[in-house]
Amino acid sequence: MKERHSFGGSIGFVLAAAGSAVGLGNIWRFPYFAAKDGGGLFLLVYLILLFTFGFTLLITEVAIGRKTLQGPLTAYDKIKKGWKPLGVISCIVPVIIMPYYCVIGGWVLKYCFVFLGGQGTAAAEDGYFGGYITSTTQPLVLTIVFLAICAIIVILGVNKGIEASSKIIMPILIVLVLIISVFALTITHTDAEGITRTGMEGLKIYLIPNLEGLTFATLLNVIVDAMGQLFFSLSVAMGIMVAYGSYVSKEANLQKSVMQIQLFDTAIAFLAGVMIIPAIYAFAGTEGMSAGPGLMFVSLPKIFASMGSIGIIMGILFFVMVLFAAVTSAVSVMEAVVSSLMDQFHMSRKKAAFIEGGIALIGGIFVCLGYNKMYFEVTLPTGTTGQLLDIMDYISNNLLMPLGAILTCILIGWVAKPKTIEDEITLNGEKFGFHKMYVVMIKFVAPIMLTVLLLESAGVLRLFM
Ligand code: ALA
Repeated sequence: MKERHSFGGSIGFVLAAAGSAVGLGNIWRFPYFAAKDGGGLFLLVYLILLFTFGFTLLITEVAIGRKTLQGPLTAYDKIKKGWKPLGVISCIVPVIIMPYYCVIGGWVLKYCFVFLGGQGTAAAEDGYFGGYITSTTQPLVLTIVFLAICAIIVILGVNKGIEASSKIIMPILIVLVLIISVFALTITHTDAEGITRTGMEGLKIYLIPNLEGLTFATLLNVIVDAMGQLFFSLSVAMGIMVAYGSYVSKEANLQKSVMQIQLFDTAIAFLAGVMIIPAIYAFAGTEGMSAGPGLMFVSLPKIFASMGSIGIIMGILFFVMVLFAAVTSAVSVMEAVVSSLMDQFHMSRKKAAFIEGGIALIGGIFVCLGYNKMYFEVTLPTGTTGQLLDIMDYISNNLLMPLGAILTCILIGWVAKPKTIEDEITLNGEKFGFHKMYVVMIKFVAPIMLTVLLLESAGVLRLFM
């Protein structure tokens, strides 16, 4: 049997997994939810969930991968015969995510070219983003370019592709985030009405909890938002961490690695908030902070444009950085499917990458057409209106991911028992300091909270509130 490749060591795994975790989720999603859900309150809830619920799910998935040496499709059935359906769910999620992640990756690529070509001011004009994504050819071409970059890295394999690129990209990313964050805090802007706002004032809004008018229903909403964010951000319930876990060497300390990945992911998300919220506040006030998904593509170019010539450099740095983050995440989404195909059908990495690339290409074409030739809108059970991209995001993130995570908790908490995972964590004689918390989380807290998340996402809870 062909030997399975593994990451060079703990650091290779931590950087590759952090590369997977840090992506579009950290850079536009985290700041947006933090602003929407009362700044400090969201941060606090997020941190509590991260070190309890997030830690439990992440370490479980990595341990399942390392124990079984299998991609997500076949791993669960190896833990307990008959659990293949959970593997299928874990594999369908990245299949759904990959096409639209590539479309967004294509948008990021476009903004890189725009800023590199000195066209940053054009991108700041009203209607630019909408005009671009509804155009027919370019978004499609750039989606394919983005997909091709990811496919090449995946074909190069675990060591030469994923590990090597993460080792270069991740440190550059940290430096860029730090530079832009410091700059954002020094901003002072006086608007047309003569009101002056500073980046430091924006930082206070980001950090200090706004408990005004807080009710049980709004607190529940914050918890649900924070949990959804955790999934997306930590790359859990997408099959990814099982696949990456299967490449971790048996000597690596899983507890330590998982803690480092979480710290890395949270630090970048937190800094993305420092980078974006004070700047948005200084230039557009509190109203500007509710721009949602468009925040990054619509509001930030306006900010860069008002910075003058330094704005062009900041714009280039920013979008190149987002591109790096998006590529390392998309690579991991693709790898989850590729490793599954390789393990299930014993096919070559190249063949598996072509198959998954082909599926992502077809899906990506439909997502792009969903903004023009095939445009339609639906109201999702969460109450928001969406296009094809939003529907795919909703099905994967809001339904299949919580469902997969609930089943994982049942499998490990009740069927195979937590000891299965704990044995893997303590393989080299490590002490598992979180034993009690882990058992309570995987058996009770996580499945109950995830069920609440699933019911809320499916629009069931709101029927009672
Ligand atoms: N975890 C990845 C992100 O945040 C998917 O974008």
